[in-house]
Amino acid sequence: MKKIIVLFIGLLVFACNSEHKLDKEKYLNEGKEIAQSTAKTLSGHVKKAIKEKGPIEAINFCRLSAYPLTDSLSKLYDVKISRVALKNRNPENKAIGMDLEIIKRYEELIFKGEKVKPEIKKDKDKIVFYAPIRLQQACLICHGKPQSEIPDTLFKHIQTLYPDDLAVNFKEGDLRGVWKLEFENKE
Ligand code: HEC
Repeated sequence: MKKIIVLFIGLLVFACNSEHKLDKEKYLNEGKEIAQSTAKTLSGHVKKAIKEKGPIEAINFCRLSAYPLTDSLSKLYDVKISRVALKNRNPENKAIGMDLEIIKRYEELIFKGEKVKPEIKKDKDKIVFYAPIRLQQACLICHGKPQSEIPDTLFKHIQTLYPDDLAVNFKEGDLRGVWKLEFENKE
């Protein structure tokens, strides 16, 4: 009898584990797809706007909500799409709760020169996809050093729009923030 119980528990643990893994894989794949296509649209439009209209105008293209794609992807996958950061520009993008733990770990890994990868976290009623956002050279004009990298008029404009802006003085390769995609936990 004991053996049967042990076997049963073993099977149960195995079943739960494999289901857990499959699940993670699905959300990881969907999350990567959503984050990548949103990032591509965003950076494509910002680069084009900088070139054609200048960086001050380009600021209007830096919000995820500026794009119909964000809306259609969030409906398609039933997911809330956001970017959050410790040093945030928009107060709505402030990292809170579980975000802080992830960001801290990503920062430690980057500090040690190790790879940072997307992750899935389970909350009570949510499954959350996180992925690192690293700073590239093209971002310095709006997130680098005021005056030397961010032109003065642009910096003043950013401060008018975002009086509590913390998102400056970043260097290439720094962790700028994370993608945070919140799926409903339907299990
Ligand atoms: C033209 C100026 C500009 C450029 C270039 C730019 N950003 Fe931003 N960024 C902004 C503005 C403005 C916001 C606030 C958007 C909002 O209100 O949601 C922002 C917000 C963000 C956020 C959300 C968190 C927060 O601080 O509010 C992340 C992450 C981010 N930027 C990363 C990047 C990365 C990575 C690049 C380069 C690939 C980049 N940005 C290039 C202006 C810029």
